[in-house]
This record gives sequence, structure tokens and C-alpha cells, in this order.
Amino acid sequence: MDTETKGAREILFVIPRYNPETDSAPQNRQYTVHVEPGMTVLDGLHEIKNNQDSTLSWRFSCRMGVCGSCGMLIAGKPMLACNTQILHVADRVLTVGPLPNFQVIKDLVPDLRPMFEKHLAAEPYIHRDDVDPKAVPGDEYYQTPEELTRFLQFSYCIKCGACMAACPTLAIDKDYMGPMPLAQLHRYNVDTRDAGFDQRKKVAGGAFGVARCHYAGECSNVCPKGVDPARAIQLMKRDLVLSYLRLRKRSRPCGTIGPDPHTRPKDKVPQAPPFTVLT
Ligand code: FES
Repeated sequence: MDTETKGAREILFVIPRYNPETDSAPQNRQYTVHVEPGMTVLDGLHEIKNNQDSTLSWRFSCRMGVCGSCGMLIAGKPMLACNTQILHVADRVLTVGPLPNFQVIKDLVPDLRPMFEKHLAAEPYIHRDDVDPKAVPGDEYYQTPEELTRFLQFSYCIKCGACMAACPTLAIDKDYMGPMPLAQLHRYNVDTRDAGFDQRKKVAGGAFGVARCHYAGECSNVCPKGVDPARAIQLMKRDLVLSYLRLRKRSRPCGTIGPDPHTRPKDKVPQAPPFTVLT
């Protein structure tokens, strides 16, 4: 729909309300919101919470499509509430629900922990034998712009869960790794700084890895950042087959080029704080 031709109007929000501690099943509630052109679904939810029902719960943070917190099912499609204008998806009625394929914590708040546990299992960080991950980085890795393009698209993922919610395989198989963790696994596998393919192969080629993907492609259709997880999974299938046939080209991870001699730390720039998460 074209917002230029659509003016302000009343939109009926239909939202399933659910508190697992008190309710046996979700129940739809309706809220009428006066919508001006340009208002996002997130704005509409704030309007409801501020003026109609303060008990409505959802998750958000950045309000600018960056943090990935506000993923929800909007007009039947997983989308970011802050990145979706109401009049782009609704004429009179708008249904807003929690992301499918996740347990519901309350109302529109999904429990994303299973997704992040799978993400962690994919080891989404640089593996190298020659670098101490706890050391403060000094040199820079040498990587060409062409090498960067192999993984750049996949690194745009904001972990909103939209791809996981759209995946028909995950809908019937909760143990499947799913598009987000697998796309991030591939993102590091093709990074020339990395040497962790063999470690990640156990997960990617395991019982719940890429072989379960039926290539429905819905993950790529709904991704708000254009990451294309379906493509990453197919590329990883190819890499795994080549690896099992011992045809995958093994290359050493890229070297370092040392500190830039023309760059000197500026006075009064504070030192980076020590690591807090590595033990
Ligand atoms: Fe951060 Fe929507 S609030 S992506």
C-alpha cells in the first residue's frame, strides 16, 4: 500500500494476551489506535500501553532496526516493530503476535534463549592457534576487500529471531539449529582470519545441522537486514560435501600486517578497559 495516498485513520490492533503464570491459553484483545502516516507498529504499541492498557508487554530497545529486540509477528509475518509502518501493513485491522517457534514469556515477548544457545554452539568467533584470544590485540589481520565480501552480508545479522520464526523446519523440529546460528556459523567459516572449520563441522554436519534444511527460503524472505541465511546454509552444504570428499581447499588463515606506522594514539584517549568476559 502507498502511504502517500493514505491518511490518518483508526486501526484496530488485535493482540493475543498471554501470561503463562495465570492463563491457560492466549486470548485476543482489541485496541483502537489513531494512526498517523509514518507511525510504526512500535509507536502503536506504546500508544496502547501509555493510554489504554499498561499491562501489555513486549521487548524493544533501539527503535531504529539495529538491536533486534522488537521482532514480532505483524500481519502474519515476522518483522521488526520499529521498522514497520502501520499503514504499510494494515488498512483497518492489524494483528500483532509473538514470534512463532519460540515459547512465550508474556504477551509479545518470546523466549529467545534456545536460539542463543544454538548460536553459542556454532562457535561464532575467530578460531586461531597462533593468537591468544585473551591477549590485547596489537596487529591487524590482512584481509582484502574481496575476501571481506565473502562474509559481509552474513555479518549484518542482528539476531532478531525473524528467520527462526519463519522456518518451517524449526516449526516441527525444535532441535534443528535453525537459520540464524547456521548462517553465523558459515559467516565465520568463510572469514579468511578464521581456522575453525573443523570444530564447527561437527555442529554444521551433525544430526541437527544443515542437512535438515529443506530450502523453503522463508528465512531469507523475512530477514529485515537482507542476510540471506538460506544461501549461507546451501553454501555450507557444498563446503561440507567437499570437505568429506577431501576436496575442500585448505588454506592457512591470513597473516597480520602489524600496526599502522602512520597511526599514533591520540593524547587523552582513554585506554580500552580490560576484558570482562574471558576467563
Ligand atoms: Fe531495536 Fe526494533 S527496537 S530493532
